[in-house]
Amino acid sequence: MQMKVMVINGPNLGRLDLREKNFYGDINYADIESAIQSQAQSLGIYVDIRQSNDEAEIISWLHEAAEQKMPLIFNPAAFTHYSYAIRDAVVMLKAPSIEVHLSNPLSREEFRHTSVISGVVNGTIAGFGLDSYRLALTQITKLVK
Ligand code: DQA
Repeated sequence: MQMKVMVINGPNLGRLDLREKNFYGDINYADIESAIQSQAQSLGIYVDIRQSNDEAEIISWLHEAAEQKMPLIFNPAAFTHYSYAIRDAVVMLKAPSIEVHLSNPLSREEFRHTSVISGVVNGTIAGFGLDSYRLALTQITKLVK
């Protein structure tokens, strides 16, 4: 059976075109989707890619991933740094999960140096732009096997 991975992108990632080019370059949300889709295709897996600015909606999607025992690639965006509600929902997951970031939060403002998510996922990949997602997809297939 084909492996199914949920990919969740948090707030403001849908509007990268308006954000700091020094951290995100010329990447836009469509580029994230197409990088994920083409990597998934070459790995032979199915991806369900979502984006939301709404904490409650993201929590519902995490519950869905937990119920369906789906592996997760997750860029929680700014929620990374303070959402205990999202952290609690990640703890409920039944399959491997990887936190990703386009930029390297540790090289940015101090409030970004804390991740409340890193301690409850299998691992974190940050700082490699679209490659952060590609690397995460490759790694999640290894973790699920
Ligand atoms: C981000 C890093 C976060 O600090 C920031 O709030 C984002 C994007 C990244 O992918 O580099 O929105 O998660």
